[in-house]
Amino acid sequence: MDEPYVRIQNEPQTGLLLPKEYFPPLLPATTDKHLTSTTQQSSQERGERKETTTMQSLLSSSVLANPCTTGSSLFPPTTAKLVAAASVPVAAAARSGAIAVSRRSVSGGGGRCVVAAASSSPAVTTAEAGEVPATMKAWAYDEYGDGSVLKFNEAAAVPDIADDQVLVRVAAAALNPVDAKRRAGKFKATDSPLPLIEVDAQTVPGYDVAGVVVKAGSQVKGLKEGDEVYGNISEKALEGPKQSGSLAEYTAVEEKLLAIKPKNLDFAQAAGLPLAVETAHEGLERAGFSAGKSILILGGAGGVGSLAIQLAKHVYGASKVAATASTPKLELLKSLGADVAIDYTKENFDDLPDKYDVVFDAVGQGEKAVKVVKEGGSVVVLTGAVVPPGFRFVVTSDGSVLEKLNPYLESGKVKPLVDPKGPFAFSQVVEAFSYLETGRATGKVVVSPIP
Ligand SMILES: NC(=O)c1ccc[n+]([C@@H]2O[C@H](COP(=O)([O-])OP(=O)(O)OC[C@H]3O[C@@H](n4cnc5c(N)ncnc54)[C@H](OP(=O)(O)O)[C@@H]3O)[C@@H](O)[C@H]2O)c1
Repeated sequence: MDEPYVRIQNEPQTGLLLPKEYFPPLLPATTDKHLTSTTQQSSQERGERKETTTMQSLLSSSVLANPCTTGSSLFPPTTAKLVAAASVPVAAAARSGAIAVSRRSVSGGGGRCVVAAASSSPAVTTAEAGEVPATMKAWAYDEYGDGSVLKFNEAAAVPDIADDQVLVRVAAAALNPVDAKRRAGKFKATDSPLPLIEVDAQTVPGYDVAGVVVKAGSQVKGLKEGDEVYGNISEKALEGPKQSGSLAEYTAVEEKLLAIKPKNLDFAQAAGLPLAVETAHEGLERAGFSAGKSILILGGAGGVGSLAIQLAKHVYGASKVAATASTPKLELLKSLGADVAIDYTKENFDDLPDKYDVVFDAVGQGEKAVKVVKEGGSVVVLTGAVVPPGFRFVVTSDGSVLEKLNPYLESGKVKPLVDPKGPFAFSQVVEAFSYLETGRATGKVVVSPIP
């Protein structure tokens, strides 16, 4: 089978990056007859960004300096020794509790690089520890703020698993805007507790994971050790998301949130899919999208938009897909399946005569979006405000959605799009966040390999 990606740089981990033919058409559309629909509501608009970014500048712009990676290796020999030596199960409140650690700075400034030693909490495990160590390398934060709150722990506690969970040895993770917003404290009202409340607690960010099952809880029926899986580890993105996220060597996940990784995708490719493709799918479902309908996707080059285009065209059988992006990304939109690519730096989509059955807003332009929907149509908004008939929803993680989409991924009808600046090394998580927060990512910001 043809490899779907070109190796555009000598990344030791995967080398993948852009779809092979960054622009050529994908396979013919297929309609999934099982897709059904529901609906919802909400409101507010975020400003549009007018600056343009060439693909060349996107590819060549330098990453920010990371104090954790300057000088000697981020993972000094002592780290490997410490982790390899640790084999005693340690309590690690995986689902609701905190990751208990004691910390000391190794950065020599700014306190950004931190060594964490497992606490002496009593051991509580629900499955045999096997070869799983007691501690792991992880990125974590113990206060809300900008990227500087992210700290590297070389000995965070490996999460325990519940009966319905598996422990995943993380091979790759991906960032989503929600990771940055959560880190900034925008969802603190519904977030899991931070050390502001519980001393010595930390949050390991990361929703998206791809990796290998190394341990299964007693109620797990479909997955077993050795299975290669992927998924979005927090069922509700904003309601008590897991404290022990995917930017770590291990993460504990409910079986129902995972699916077997598509065979044709490597871990980095798979890691970029779950939250974004689940959002694209749920948005289309809630909007009542179906074969023969037209759709406008705002933000077509982003993580969600790039998948919404492909699902609309190649899974649902859209009659017409239009999408917005800046000038350098218009051909990409067409390669993904857009019939019409609108350059938002040159024209306002709401000034154009076309109207659509569904408008899918991944930018935060709800007030404009409702102007271009047909009578009786739907406007689904991911961020910001919207007026009726628009509605907003928050994605629910569901492994069965990934399972349903696996055939489309394995046939190549739907392809992951990994931003060409990545995959970022595990030592570059701070840079990966900074890049994500530019709002200019093309497809997904992936971190791989881990560690
Ligand atoms: N409600 C939910 O459940 C849910 C789930 C997932 C995501 N979200 C939210 O949805 C939004 C999109 O998520 P994402 O993961 O797709 O983000 P993303 O990957 O970071 O989006 C980046 C893309 O946005 C494009 N963009 C920026 N401004 C634009 C504009 N005015 N018009 C058209 N495109 C524009 C950029 O293209 P250019 O470089 O060409 O500007 C870039 O390719 C975020 O706010 C996220 O928090 C919500």
